[in-house]
Amino acid sequence: MRLFKEANMIQKRTKIRELLRMKPEGQSLTVMGWVRTFRNNQFIALNDGSTNTNLQVVAPLGVFDETLLKRITTSASLKIEGSLVPSSGKGQAMELVATSIEVLGDSDPEKYPLQPKKHSLEFLREIAHLRFRTNTFGSVFRVRHSLAFAIHQFFNERGFVYLHTPVITASDAEGAGEMFRVTTLPFDNPPRNEDGSVNFREDFFGRATNLTVSGQLEGELGATAFGEIYTFGPTFRAENSNTTRHLAEFWMIEPEMAFYDLEDNMNLAESFIKYIIGYAMEHNREDLEFLAQRLQEEEKALPQDKRSEWTLLEKLEFVLKNDFERITYTEAIDILLQSPAYKKKKFQYDVKWGIDMQSEHERYLVEKHFRKPVIVTNYPKEIKAFYMRQDDNGKTVAAMDILAPGIGEIVGGSQREERMDKLTARMREMHIPEEELYWYLDTRRFGTVPHAGFGLGFERMVQFVTGMGNIRDVIPFPRTPKSAEF
Ligand code: 4AD
Ligand code: MG
Repeated sequence: MRLFKEANMIQKRTKIRELLRMKPEGQSLTVMGWVRTFRNNQFIALNDGSTNTNLQVVAPLGVFDETLLKRITTSASLKIEGSLVPSSGKGQAMELVATSIEVLGDSDPEKYPLQPKKHSLEFLREIAHLRFRTNTFGSVFRVRHSLAFAIHQFFNERGFVYLHTPVITASDAEGAGEMFRVTTLPFDNPPRNEDGSVNFREDFFGRATNLTVSGQLEGELGATAFGEIYTFGPTFRAENSNTTRHLAEFWMIEPEMAFYDLEDNMNLAESFIKYIIGYAMEHNREDLEFLAQRLQEEEKALPQDKRSEWTLLEKLEFVLKNDFERITYTEAIDILLQSPAYKKKKFQYDVKWGIDMQSEHERYLVEKHFRKPVIVTNYPKEIKAFYMRQDDNGKTVAAMDILAPGIGEIVGGSQREERMDKLTARMREMHIPEEELYWYLDTRRFGTVPHAGFGLGFERMVQFVTGMGNIRDVIPFPRTPKSAEF
């Protein structure tokens, strides 16, 4: 076993995750962590964040004085030396018999908000600065870490270049106008043009700027030089959606590939999703089992027909082993029109060719009809961004969205319009200023190539893998309308 000594500030600390894999034979070890519970003035459940499993530490009666024992309270931090022995008690295979206990930091049990009992996710959201110390959030954020790591590994193995696209930009990549303005101009009295509008030439960057909604346009510049790139960074959307699937600040992974068509794009996205799920299943078994258990407990409160038929792990296993369904938008609309739900008027929003499908429609397709992830392609051009490649029929574009059970849209992507005349014609129709995007159009001017890419919403992916119902519970510090605490 490798011990990472350089990470251990205060001597040879053994992480509990490593310790629990050792053979207990009386060896002397040092652990550090936070107290979860202290029973009978004798048994400390210690957690150091490396795993959900607490280490049982035994403080033999009569060895430690009362004043020290009184300081062993929930969430106090301890440094403990002791010997690792097989446990005679139930519930654990081994325990550490303490020979020395040092309190690194006290924690007042009257004031510490987390009690050793079940707290609601809503309550924990209000104390998000402490929720990492619970089992649920410990597992969620270890899984989040693994998925992030797997993403870099996936692209690195395939020779993609990790491109850092800017957080502050002057363009609206999606053309949806959902941007947060970045400015240093005074609000009460900004400099004005003669016509009364704000004079952004006086602003910090000499022009109006905003937080990025997507790194795609810059990503295309990278792809048309390196061949294959990906971005992985925060993106910002000022959409006033208070749902369990939307954040104002979320992380997005955007691969962009030269010499790819729509089908290559779908194939890559499907392998990518399977790869990162597989990675988490291999490296976070214990956390996923805990989360699966948590989900089952939570669903006990629901009526039988609302509960999942599968456990979390069965669902993930199924996604790994089966092909995603692939259908066109037109086929999707036909399925909806033929559905019992439509005929019985169960949908709140109308269904007809041309609609931007609502989440109830997407959920019907993935959860009721196909019961697996579905890739929907060739959407009407009116509901998609200007850069998507126009199909020959003049009505649809080479778009693809991936819809996941329980989540809805998890990926949005397309083959890009590489033909200059078609692209600029569409930009004019959609009132996208060509002069401002001259640098983007240069990719089409100088050696244009067929290319494609997509964006995966990282938090929606973490939700899918962890089974967490609310997106606020899979990002450490959620930013949503009227909420930016911590
Ligand atoms: O479909 P979107 O808007 O696509 C793009 O931004 C493209 N430029 C991507 C590309 O082709 N390179 O967003 C992509 C994904 C969505 O499918 C969704 O998973 C996630 O980003 N997403 C959000 N996640 C959380 N909160 C929000 N407000 C989100 N908006 C989009
Ligand atoms: Mg989309």
